[in-house]
This record gives sequence, C-alpha cells and structure tokens, in this order.
Amino acid sequence: METIKYDETQLNEAAKELAVGNLVAFPTETVYGLGANVLLPEAVKQVFTVKGRPQDNPLIVHVASFEQVKEYVDNFHPLTEQIVKNFWPGPLTLIFHIKKGSLPGIVTGGLSTAAFRMPDNKKTLELIQLAGVPLVGPSANTSGKPSPTTADHVFHDLKGKITGIIDDGATRIGVESTVLDLSDPSAPPMILRPGAITKEQLEVVIESPVATDRHLVKESETPKSPGMKYKHYSPDTRVLMVEKTDWPEAIIWTKEQKLRTGVLAGPTIADQVRKDVAAVYMYYDDSVEAATKGLFAGLRGLDDDRLALDLILVQVAPEEGLGIAYMNRLKKAAGQNYYKK
Ligand code: TXA
Ligand code: MG
Repeated sequence: METIKYDETQLNEAAKELAVGNLVAFPTETVYGLGANVLLPEAVKQVFTVKGRPQDNPLIVHVASFEQVKEYVDNFHPLTEQIVKNFWPGPLTLIFHIKKGSLPGIVTGGLSTAAFRMPDNKKTLELIQLAGVPLVGPSANTSGKPSPTTADHVFHDLKGKITGIIDDGATRIGVESTVLDLSDPSAPPMILRPGAITKEQLEVVIESPVATDRHLVKESETPKSPGMKYKHYSPDTRVLMVEKTDWPEAIIWTKEQKLRTGVLAGPTIADQVRKDVAAVYMYYDDSVEAATKGLFAGLRGLDDDRLALDLILVQVAPEEGLGIAYMNRLKKAAGQNYYKK
C-alpha cells in the first residue's frame, strides 16, 4: 500500500480512514503515535502486526478530552481531577481500572486496567475529535527501535504498511510520556515509566507523595507496566554511555581499538571530540531538554548503515528531573553499559 502524507487540510480524510479501521500515524508532543480506532479489535491487532509488538504489551488510549475517559472508567482515584486539570493535555498517561468489557482485550492486554492520555498537539486532538473515537497509539516505530520523533522516522519504519501519516515536524519533548498508575483509589499514585512530567512536579500539585516503580527490570521479571520489560530503543550498533570526565580516555581507547566511532552529545563535548571520531550528532545545546529531544533522532542517525559505525558513545545526564527519563531511555539503548577502561 502507498502511505499517504496528510497535511492539516486533510485531517478529515485521515479521520475517516481511522473510523473505518485503517492505521494513521499522528504527531504528539512526545513521540509520533500509531493510531487505530480503539473500538475495532481487527484494527488494533494490525497495530501489533505492523510494529512487530508482543501482544501482552497493552496500548495507550488517546482521548481529546477527560470526558471521553468517563465512558470507560467509573471508579476514579480521588486525585484524578487535580492531576488532569494541571497536566492534560500533556505528556502524562494515567492508568485507571476500567468498566468490565468497555474496551477490547487486545487494547488492554487482557488487564482490568487501561492507560489514557490526552496529547498536547492541536492536529491530533482535532483528529481524535473528527474520528469520533479514542485512538490507540503506541510509538509509531518498529518494536525495539528508538521511538520516532519525526515523520521521516515513521516513514522509515512503517512506509507501505500503514494508510497514512500526519506530519507536524519534530516532536517537542522527544521521549514517551510519564506513565502514572492511578488504578487503586486508596494507594498513592505510582510512576511506572519516567517522562517529562516529573515526580516533583506531580507532588507539588497533589501535595502528597508519589511512589516510583523500578523502571529497569530483567526479562524474567513481571513489571507493573508490561512495556518496561522489553528491550527498547536499541540501535543495532553497540552503544556505550560516557561520564563527563571519561571522554578523553574513552576517545583514546576507541582509537587504540580502531573502532569506527560516533558521538551523541551537546556542543561542549561534541567540539572536544569532533576531530577524533567518524561522526557526531550534536544536541542543540548542553541542556537536558536538548539531550532528551535529540536522543532518539541521534541514535537513529548514527545507526544508519551508511555510516558503518562500530560504536556509539553517548553523553550522560544527572539523574534528576527530566534527566531521569533521559537516562532511563539511554540505559536501555546502551544495555546499561558505560565506557569503563
Ligand atoms: O508518549 C507516549 O506515551 C507515546 C505517544 C505516542 O503518546 N505512546 C507510547 O505508547 O509510548 P507505548 O505503547 O509505546 O507505551 C505504552 C506504555 C507501555 O510501557 C505499556 O506497558 C504501558 O504504557 N501500559 C499500557 N497500559 C497499561 C496498563 N493497563 N497498566 C500498566 N501499564 C500500561
Ligand atoms: Mg514504544
């Protein structure tokens, strides 16, 4: 099939395709999502097929308003309203216990809970409204590859396999939403996946503690958020994390080992190592926001076969605030490995 690129005047056409069960990728502020009508099991099944995603990993239900969530949930956590008022639309996914049978089992992975999010993107909110139903939306990449932060990334992975894509340029944040478990009304909210909405931001709003699940789990364990168990975001090229003070030594080592090396880092480090490596992908500045925005695009760029790299070295960030989400995705890409001589 030919994959159509829809512009903003064609949202209605894209919505019609979704309504009848076809797949259309949509932009959000985090990463691009692969949209399908949440109420059509065959369409949702197709999402798993084209991504090559394991079916026990449930999907996020993307809504255009909090009202839409009420069709599927009746027992809300007492903090829900406050959280929604402050963070939706935005990079925060909420897990609720759902009304039995209100969503197809293929959406929820057979769980009695489901994930909901109202993305902060005008075109996509309009698309959901026009489609008249919520849309499932896993990241629009081949399972196991870095999530797509541009329409070109989606095209690269899914061209010919989906009906269309709505291009809205590069995504603002660059990593997937924070997943917050609100399914037990008597328990404190728990972060299952770190993202741009931090524990501290949530605690300021709800004026009570937020718990965190362990975000990196072994294959054999069963995490609360099924997605956390899969090896995600990993390019084919070997990736190593490099601590700030280790860069000079790491570069000497790559030369000794004759490794064709690429570097993913902010301007300070990039300028320091540029002449000694085969390729550099530079974050737009040295901030953690820039690193987070550029991480997946950089990994994809440096993993390109034409560069034929043996190794990708990536700058780390302090594990606080947004740095927690950045390091979570980076550690997965690097299989937890740091450069250590
Ligand atoms: O930013 C995002 O969240 C992007 C954009 C497109 O919205 N979407 C995204 O979807 O990252 P996906 O499918 O790649 O990640 C969904 C995550 C997975 O880790 C999954 O296990 C978790 O949400 N999840 C879904 N339903 C759940 C549930 N009922 N309980 C616990 N975790 C759940
Ligand atoms: Mg994903």
